[in-house]
Order: sequence, then C-alpha cells, then structure tokens
Amino acid sequence: MRKLTNILVTGGAGFIGSNFIRYLLNDAGFRGKIVNVDALTYAGNPENLADVDSAHGGKRYFFEKADVCDFEAMERVFGTHGIDTVIHFAAESHVDRSIFGPRDFIQTNIIGTFNLLEAARERWQGRDDVLFHHISTDEVYGSLGDTGFFYETTPYDPRSPYSASKASSDHLVMAYHHTYRVPVTMSNCSNNYGPYQFPEKLIPLMIQNIREEKPLPVYGDGKNIRDWLYVDDHNSAIWAIVNRGKNGATYNIGGENEWENIRLVHVLCEKMAAALGKEKDHYKKLITHVKDRPGHDRRYAINCDRIKSELGWRQAYDFDRGLDATIRWYLNNQAWADRVRSGEYRTWIEKNYGER
Ligand SMILES: NC(=O)c1ccc[n+]([C@@H]2O[C@H](COP(=O)([O-])OP(=O)(O)OC[C@H]3O[C@@H](n4cnc5c(N)ncnc54)[C@H](O)[C@@H]3O)[C@@H](O)[C@H]2O)c1
Repeated sequence: MRKLTNILVTGGAGFIGSNFIRYLLNDAGFRGKIVNVDALTYAGNPENLADVDSAHGGKRYFFEKADVCDFEAMERVFGTHGIDTVIHFAAESHVDRSIFGPRDFIQTNIIGTFNLLEAARERWQGRDDVLFHHISTDEVYGSLGDTGFFYETTPYDPRSPYSASKASSDHLVMAYHHTYRVPVTMSNCSNNYGPYQFPEKLIPLMIQNIREEKPLPVYGDGKNIRDWLYVDDHNSAIWAIVNRGKNGATYNIGGENEWENIRLVHVLCEKMAAALGKEKDHYKKLITHVKDRPGHDRRYAINCDRIKSELGWRQAYDFDRGLDATIRWYLNNQAWADRVRSGEYRTWIEKNYGER
C-alpha cells in the first residue's frame, strides 16, 4: 500500500506543477504535505502559487528553492520532510530553447532525474510503500505520418535535444526500477494548455499577441498536428496513476484532440475576437508564416486506452470548454502575463529568493 503522505513535487513553480499542487490541495482530497522543490529558472514563478502559499504555507505546503542537480540538497529534502512520494515535473521544457541551447536540457532533464533517483534509492531501501512518478512527454516517440498513434509500446525515437533528454530520463527511471527495485510509475502526455503557462508556448503566446495585435508566428505551412489536453485533465490522470497505477508501468495520457496548428490559431483568433468584441476574422490578418523549426515533428497522436481501461480515467474538458477557460483566465490575469512578459517577475524573485 502506498503511503502518499509527504509528497515531493519537483518543478512545482512551473506551469503544470503549479496547477497540480493547487489540484492536490483543493480538488483531489489529498490530506498530506507537499514539498515543492524548484530552482526558479526563467519558467518558474512562485507567484503561480501565491494563493496556495497563503492558505497552506508552513502547514501543508513547503517551498524549497533548490536545483534537482544538487544531490546533497535533494538528500536533505528527502530526510527533512520524510518524503515517501516523488512527482517529478522539473525540466527544461521548451523545444525551441533546446535547439538553440541544449546544455541546460541535458543537465536538468538527465542529471537532475539521475540525482533524484539516487536520493530515492538511498533513502527508500527495501520500502514498497513509496513511489517515484516521472512526468514525461509523447515527444519521445518521434513523429507520426497521417495515420497511427503512439502506444506505451511504441519504440522511442526522439528527434530534438528536448525529447532526447526526456527519453534518456525515462530510461533511467525504468533502469532504477528494474535494477534497484525502486517503485516507479511514468506518464507520457501530449501538449498541455491552461492557466499559468509561460507565454512562449503556442496557446498563451497567441492569446497575448492577439491581445496586443502583434504578429502571430506560425511555423512553416502550419499543418503540423498536435494533440491537446487541458492541464486539469493531466492532473487527474497523474493522481489516478500515483494512487492506483501498477508499479513499473507507463501510461500514455492524451486529449484525443488533434489539431493542425494553423486551424488552432484560427479558432483562437475567433474566440478572442468574440471575447474582445471584434469581428470574427479581425485578428486573422496578424497570422505570419515563419521559417519552420529544424526537425519539426509532423504529427503527434496518443492512444490512451490503457489509463482509461485500467484506471477508469477520462478527460473532463472538451477543447471548446478548455480553451474558453484558458482565454478567460489570461484575460482576467493580464497583470500576471504582463509581469512575466516584461521580465518584472524576475526582479521580484531575485529580491525574495536570491539569484539563481
Ligand atoms: N507543457 C507540456 O505541454 C508538457 C507535455 C508533456 C509533458 N510535459 C512535462 O511536464 C513537466 C512540466 O512541464 P511544464 O510545461 O510545466 O514546464 P515549465 O517549463 O513550465 O516548468 C518547469 C519548472 O521546472 C523548474 N526547473 C527547471 N530546471 C530545474 C532544476 N534544475 N531544478 C529544479 N527545478 C527546475 C522551473 O523553474 C519550472 O518551475 C516537464 O517534465 C515536461 O517535460 C510537459
């Protein structure tokens, strides 16, 4: 029986991690303690959890500014907080950044995961009431043509420094399970969207640029296809796996919701026009096709039958509802988006948490 009492969430100040912590404390019925370890890179922002900190800080929620690559710091966190569960989100996560500068991706995604696994192996010897859950991506499977899906059994074929570093960390997690019997589960998820996503990713970038009537950059012909999942559906899937997933198993998570990038941008233009009282096609003139990303994977599509049949998980949000909720959130939280885009949030972080 898993203990699930003292959970270490890594990367909890980022997009998915912060939504997950809020979900755990508000919606999941979790009664234990959460320790959020985050190095506060450009993508980490404690402001994402200001409400959680004021409601639960020092009682059920603890923030530790630390780098997952720092082994002593990870060991200390395990010891101080009696960690019995790890949910490992911390990563460099933006494909474009991995193309321009892969070093941080290799360091955090591979060495950081290795360090956490080492700390878990050392601290959890012989225990079977503990769990290391690793968050991964569908990008490790490579690129699909017009048909077919990624299954849990699809061979890995990563094609960007980002996906190669994630694939490497996935292999380490499974190696620690098979070699050292560390209890693990893993999930490979498609593209997420929702509140608090750093506005360099497609959906929040488009929302912000539309709001400011700036060009809407679309790679190549715009016909690359991605599967989109609302972040709260990812949260509920992770929680189902952590509670009931089989030791050593991998679960694919997806929205079963494939969209060509260009079609998605059109929908965003229309929804934003409706929200801001403009004509339906008003913002489409801002669409600008730009040189394609090198090695741009054509299509990702997930088969998530396993998590549905084994764990009874279902998506709760269709795309229409998820996009409306996301747009509403960004429009109601423009101050957050402006602080992130202007870099002002860094000054606040450095004042309160020191430099990275
Ligand atoms: N966003 C998606 O669509 C998506 C889809 C599938 C899987 N994932 C995976 O989910 C996880 C979270 O993604 P996200 O979109 O929330 O990312 P994000 O970039 O928004 O957040 C990453 C967080 O990790 C922290 N971090 C980075 N390096 C660190 C280090 N060395 N030590 C400690 N903390 C560090 C950052 O400060 C940040 O808070 C990642 O593992 C990513 O690969 C993301």
